[in-house]
Formats: sequence, C-alpha cells, structure tokens
Amino acid sequence: MAIFEFKGSEFLGDVVSVDTRRVWLNVESEKLREARVGRLVAIKAQSAVEEWLIAIVDKVVKRAFARGESTGGDATGNDAEQELNSIQEGDSYLKEDNKVRVTLIGTVRAKLDDRDDVFTRSILTLPEIEAQANTIEGKALESFMGIISKTAQGEHALDIGHFTMDPNARAYLDGNRFFQRHAALLGSTGSGKSWTVATMLERAKDLPTSNIILFDLHGEYSNLDYARHLKVAGPDDLNKEDPSLLFLPYWLLNAEEMQAMFIDRTEFSAHNQVMAFQDAVTAAKKEQLRLENKLDVLNAFTIDSPVPFSLDAVIDRISELNTEMTQGSRGIKQGNFYGQFSRLLVRVQSKIKDKRYGFLFQAPQSLHSYNAFNNIAASLMRYRGENNQVKIIDFSEVPSDMLPVIVGLVARLVFQLQFWTAPKERQPIAFFCDEAHLYLPKKNDSNPIEKRALENFERIAKEGRKYGVGLVVISQRPADVSETILSQCNNFISLRLTNATDQAVVKKLLPDSLESLVEVLPILDIGEAVIVGDAVLLPTRIKIAPPQEQNCPKSGTLNFWNEWSAPDKSTTFALAVENMRRQSRRAIRRAVLVVPEKNDK
Ligand SMILES: Nc1ncnc2c1ncn2[C@@H]1O[C@H](COP(=O)(O)OP(=O)(O)O)[C@@H](O)[C@H]1O
Ligand SMILES: [Mg+2]
Repeated sequence: MAIFEFKGSEFLGDVVSVDTRRVWLNVESEKLREARVGRLVAIKAQSAVEEWLIAIVDKVVKRAFARGESTGGDATGNDAEQELNSIQEGDSYLKEDNKVRVTLIGTVRAKLDDRDDVFTRSILTLPEIEAQANTIEGKALESFMGIISKTAQGEHALDIGHFTMDPNARAYLDGNRFFQRHAALLGSTGSGKSWTVATMLERAKDLPTSNIILFDLHGEYSNLDYARHLKVAGPDDLNKEDPSLLFLPYWLLNAEEMQAMFIDRTEFSAHNQVMAFQDAVTAAKKEQLRLENKLDVLNAFTIDSPVPFSLDAVIDRISELNTEMTQGSRGIKQGNFYGQFSRLLVRVQSKIKDKRYGFLFQAPQSLHSYNAFNNIAASLMRYRGENNQVKIIDFSEVPSDMLPVIVGLVARLVFQLQFWTAPKERQPIAFFCDEAHLYLPKKNDSNPIEKRALENFERIAKEGRKYGVGLVVISQRPADVSETILSQCNNFISLRLTNATDQAVVKKLLPDSLESLVEVLPILDIGEAVIVGDAVLLPTRIKIAPPQEQNCPKSGTLNFWNEWSAPDKSTTFALAVENMRRQSRRAIRRAVLVVPEKNDK
C-alpha cells in the first residue's frame, strides 16, 4: 500500500528553487489559501522505493506586478516587499506571482533498513525542480502521523501527549536523547510547565530504576504521592528527627561557597579574611582527619574536601588573630590582623544563630560524624525501592539570599558523587530545575552567591553527559536564565510565551530553519507546546497530556475574587507578628498574645 495517494485536490505548487533545507514553491493564487504557516507538505522524491520529502510551510509571499514591469528577481521572494512598494495606485495588474517557502524536516520512505514506512529526520535526496508539493491533510495526515508515532514508539519512548494536528497521533520523546543532552522547559506563568513536569515524572516513575531529583522552590509538588519528599529543614524543623528533613551541614560547603556565605567582598580586609578563614578551616579539617586516623585522605587533602570540622575551633582561631598582641622592638604591639576580623566574626556568629540557616549550622549532632555524608548522599541519590525514583526537594524555607548557593551545593554534591562512582555502578540521574531564573540567572559578576550556583550548573551542563547527569531547566523568564546553560540544552519544550524578550531568546536557540515556529508561541493553548530538538521527530505543536494523578502540582496562586467572596477567616495579625519574631508557624496559645486593647475611654 502506498504511503500517500494524492488525488490532485491537495496539490499546492511546484518546486522552483532549493537552498539546503529551504524550498520555494510557485503557487497559483487560488491555492494560496491552503498554504498556512505550520502546515505539512509532501514532495515526491526520485527514488526506487516510494519516498517523500516532508516540509513545513514557513512563509507565504503574494506579489503583484504592474503592467510593463519585469517579473525579474530571484525566486526567493526577498524582493517581494520592494516590488509591492513600487506598485503605484491606479496601476492595473497584469500578473500575480505567489511563492511559498517550506522547510524540509525529513523523509518518509516505504522501506529503510528492513523497516517499512519509516520517517527519518535526514533529507535523503533534495527535491527536483518542478517536483509537485501536496499539502498533507485528512487521510494522508492520519497515515503520516501514524508513521511518526510508530517510528518514535520504541523502547525508550516517553509518551508526552498528542499532536495538535491530529489528536489520534501520540507524540513521543526519545527518553534517551531528551535527558542525555539537557533540555529546557519554557513558558509564561500558567502555561502548563508544572503539569508538564508532573506528566514526565509520572512516566519516569513507572520505570523500575529511574532516578530524578526535582528542585521545588515553592513546595508546589508536595502532593505527588509517588515521590520521595525531602525538605530542606526550616526554622520550625530544627531538632526534629525526621528522615524527610534534609540538613546540609556547613562542612559540606567548599571554600568558595563558604566565602559566598561569610565574606563581604566590599570590606577593606576581605582578602585577609579569606586567607585567615581558609587557614583556620584547613587546620580544623586536618585535625579531624588525624583524630579519625584517615591518613590516605589526609595525604590527598584539599580545603574543599567534605570533612566535618569544628566551626568553634575556626571561630576561636580567628578571634585569636583579631585580638593578637605581639612583641615588637619597643614593647607589646597589636598583631598584623588586629581588629580586621571583627565584622567577619559578627557575621559568622549571626548566621550560626539564625534559625533560617539552621539546616546548615544547627543540624543534629549525628550529622557531624565522619560517616554522616554517606547517609546524606543516600538520601539524595537512592533510587531503589518503592517511591525512591523521583525525589522532590523542597527549598521553600531556604532564605532567598542564599538560595543559589544551596541549590548549587546540592547539585554539586550529586554531580561529584556521580563523578566518583565507578562507571559500572553509575545510575543516570536527571535534575528538574524549576524556577531556574531564581538560581541560574544571567551572568552577574557582582554577585558571588549567584556565581557559585552558576558555576556548579555550568559544569554539569558541559560535562554532565559523560557522567550521566542531565538537566531539565524550567523557567517562565528565559530571558533571565543563564545563556551558557540554555545554549547547552539540545531540546526545547516551549509552552505559551507571551513576552517578546523571552520569545527572542527562544528564537535564538532554534535552528535558523525553524525560526518561524516562534510565531506560534504567543497563541499556544494551555498545555500546548512546540517541541524542538534531537528527542523529537517532528518539530510541531504538541498537546501535553495532563498528569493522571489526582494530586497535581498546586499552583499556589490565590484566587482573589473567590477568596474575597468567601467567609471571613478571622485572621489574627498578632499571631503573624509573633510568628515572624519566633520564626515559626507552629500553633501557639492565643493567650500568649497580647491582644491590642481599645484605647478610647
Ligand atoms: N497539559 C494540560 N492540560 C490541561 N490543562 C492544563 C495542562 N497544563 C496546565 N493546565 C492547567 O493550567 C494550570 C496552570 O498550569 P501550571 O502547570 O501550574 O503552569 P505553570 O507551572 O507554567 O505556571 C493548571 O492548574 C491546569 O489547570
Ligand atoms: Mg509552575
């Protein structure tokens, strides 16, 4: 049975010029209506077996020539506008010349390497001049989309939804390629990013040993009951023994992360602070290694080695330098660093005591043992057993000033652990980075905190493939996300994108031949996406299937009008005030609160 049998009514036009993937068709004016941007066309190829080149309409040019004018110019339609401008009012038109530009996206073939009716993204032969192009619609569209689905439906197919063009045709992503070379999921607020994530997680959790970490910045995904939930401990959680709480003891920070945490670069003595701090930390870590009798570690030791150490010892050492008096030639004098570290000490002390940083500095004692890192590593990366494939880390209580360092820290730890795992034992792991603009911003050299996160993620973007670490970067503000990271992504899922600056970013990321896809970005439906990259066969509109689980991500958006129509909540502002002071939303006896009395006598 033939792949396509066109009856003549689908005829669109003849090929008049070919330039690599771009093909111009000559189209009669009554046919021009059929040439809608985004439509698929098939061009018969000269081949022994049935073979069709498939293309997408990306430009339609209609032009007219005044009497006596030449129809000269190339067939590329570039001069169309110029010629239209030259037409004077009152001219009577002799001739219309209509061109349609299409972009070749692949080939369907009746036979290819033992398989029947296959679609491939390669262009096996270029179209002949005067070859006929037909629009693919109706039955032809059905059978073509059937071939697409069948071709993509292999062992590693990730079922993502259906094609907008044909609701019966399932759309699959190549699950290997999608995660191997990183992906970006972009779309304005409310366009369906979180639901798309949930759909992907649902598909992944059905694989017995999938391994995914989702960074959840607002606790949006806390409902998903097939996932293992970890929450970076908030002010309320300190002292709790709960395996779902994630503590990241300060000694996991590397030298640069510590600096971002404690050193104020604008201070005159910043350089000396860094030096003194690093020396003190190195000494404290070495001391610990000696106590543990870890000689081989001691030999290979660097300041970045994640070894528990006593922060008190570090503070003592720096205080000592800060108040040191030395013997000079004319008696006792102030030491070299006298008074230089006073601010540093204040900063360190206040961070240590701040409950919001409790997950770093007030971790349970058991997490400061030499072997504690093993448990932290397992809690981040364990994937065997029920509900362990998808791990959702809730960062909602991490203070926003430190968020990039902390997200970056988790990503770095996982990447390094993966790096140091024997290749045979390595299980590929993917990070889903929701709200990436918050911690992977465009390069901003003035902020050392953001720089830390960026460097950790840039390393993963560049080297992750080798060690089986994939990124899925998710954002509503692609224009604010690091270009280095985005440019490393080989697959793009773009949902509706209304902002022109953001559209421009996507346009830059698309191959030239597909730039016209940008035009549909603002008009996509909720949950509808354009997917481009090596993981998809057909760069076209796909309606993403909503997640099946009842418990979808909660968007956390309050419905103003509904809330304003609902009964009074008897909000106690005094309680909020007290919570703010004690850094906790836990219940409190109302009697403790002093209810403001009316002052009028
Ligand atoms: N694929 C989809 N199919 C149907 N409805 C969807 C789909 N994706 C999103 N929605 C609807 O849009 C709302 C917002 O989606 P969400 O994923 O939270 O957006 P975003 O994360 O981009 O802000 C959802 O609550 C849901 O009602
Ligand atoms: Mg969201």
